[in-house]
Amino acid sequence: MANYILAIDQGTTSSRAIIFDKSGSIISTGQLEHEQIFPKAGWVEHNPKEIWDNTREAIGQALSKANLTRHDIEAVGITNQRETAVVWDKTTGEAIYNAIVWQDTRTQSIVDRLAADGGVERFKPQVGLPLATYFSGTKIVWILENVEGARAKADSGDLIFGTTDTWVLWNLTGGVEGGVHVTDVTNASRTMFMDLETLQWDDDILAAFDVPKSMLPEIKSSSEVYGVASPQSLLRDTPIAGILGDQQAATFGQAAFDQGEAKNTYGTGNFLIFNTDTEIVHSKNGLLTTLGYKLGDAPAHYALEGSIAVTGSLIQWLRDNLGIITNASETEALATSVDDNGGAYFVPAFSGLFAPYWRSDARGALVGLTRYVNKAHIVRAALEATAYQTREVLDAVNADSGVPLTELKVDGGMIANNFLMQFQADILGVPVVRPVVAETTALGAAYAAGLAVGFWSDLDDLRKNWQEDSRWTPNMDDAERERLLRNWKKAVTKTFDWVD
Ligand code: G3P
Repeated sequence: MANYILAIDQGTTSSRAIIFDKSGSIISTGQLEHEQIFPKAGWVEHNPKEIWDNTREAIGQALSKANLTRHDIEAVGITNQRETAVVWDKTTGEAIYNAIVWQDTRTQSIVDRLAADGGVERFKPQVGLPLATYFSGTKIVWILENVEGARAKADSGDLIFGTTDTWVLWNLTGGVEGGVHVTDVTNASRTMFMDLETLQWDDDILAAFDVPKSMLPEIKSSSEVYGVASPQSLLRDTPIAGILGDQQAATFGQAAFDQGEAKNTYGTGNFLIFNTDTEIVHSKNGLLTTLGYKLGDAPAHYALEGSIAVTGSLIQWLRDNLGIITNASETEALATSVDDNGGAYFVPAFSGLFAPYWRSDARGALVGLTRYVNKAHIVRAALEATAYQTREVLDAVNADSGVPLTELKVDGGMIANNFLMQFQADILGVPVVRPVVAETTALGAAYAAGLAVGFWSDLDDLRKNWQEDSRWTPNMDDAERERLLRNWKKAVTKTFDWVD
């Protein structure tokens, strides 16, 4: 048995390859960012070719930095930004349009058309999701309706679809020369097309969307051998043995395997996942019902999810669109240079509002401004927005489960910000806990692949790898917390009804 597992993390802003050893420690990392393409207001695209080229290069970087070859890698796991849709011609290997990213809102008219008959919750009993621009299903419809020749090619069976796990897997396993066209249950559960019980594509929903089944990948478990890397790859003959959508991967990497365990990831958006074991729980409070993981033939595990579209990407926006910071790392010092938010609240409804509101007519608002407010207050309001949004999601989780969470496991890029983590604990009123290996997304994908090939023997093996690193405990009086939350909720109402 080789000594390492390689995880590919195809995320919203970059593609990475991370090599892990048996203790779950990182041996080396390769990483390349890709372009964020904004052709129109509300549109967000990625170039699929750039993503695949970067993924290959990241694998090369990770191997060479650690002086390793494919012989040192026992298996490969893939994790990915989830609802981002790629449609390509399987005879040429070329995407017929850019990837339409999960944050993109262009499909609102398709959502409205489908919701006209039965409302936005029309398919929720089967798929666990409301109709929204977020999920990949309406993005496929947009491509079929708007890219010249797409419908005819789809009908002839040449076009295939995948989220970026599938795009990477297909290319890694040979592309036009026998690429494997497969996804896992967690990614399939974000399309709007997978029945939560049967774990198969639902023919009636596909008919309502007018999407040919022949375009869709085969749905497999999150942990099994899907194929081996092609002869052209640096990883030639290495099995690809795990796929988990990135938020489910982070949950798995946090060893939150059991009923009632949860994690919150602070990335471009925030995603809180709460494990409901093998039970399909339908939320009454604006959460999604989604797949947690499925290991080989064992029963699927389900989860409730609170998705927040914009958290870390608001900090990027302050940097790239306003230029009021040059680096995200400046935000902590700026936020703590003032005593409070100066009365400013920033609701970043750039892609509408996701959980718990699901208001696609919402757009961002910065409110409470006076001449007193300066740059530091705005930066602080932007960081605070992440904490308030998380509080609203946690309230929904607690209401659905009936058993309040007593602490929150966190991961993702923004947890490096101590101000934010302390403010988060203050606003939640429960401790926030960070593990030693905070790269839980890639780790989760490595775990899924390693379990499939016997690199790790069982979940207990993985639980032993989880160790606490830091803990922030609440330190704010109740009246102040309530005042801030009251103002936040008022600010949220100012974002509604902005789409003509
Ligand atoms: O649902 C979207 C999510 O999977 C994207 O995650 O970490 O790439 O922002 P991230």
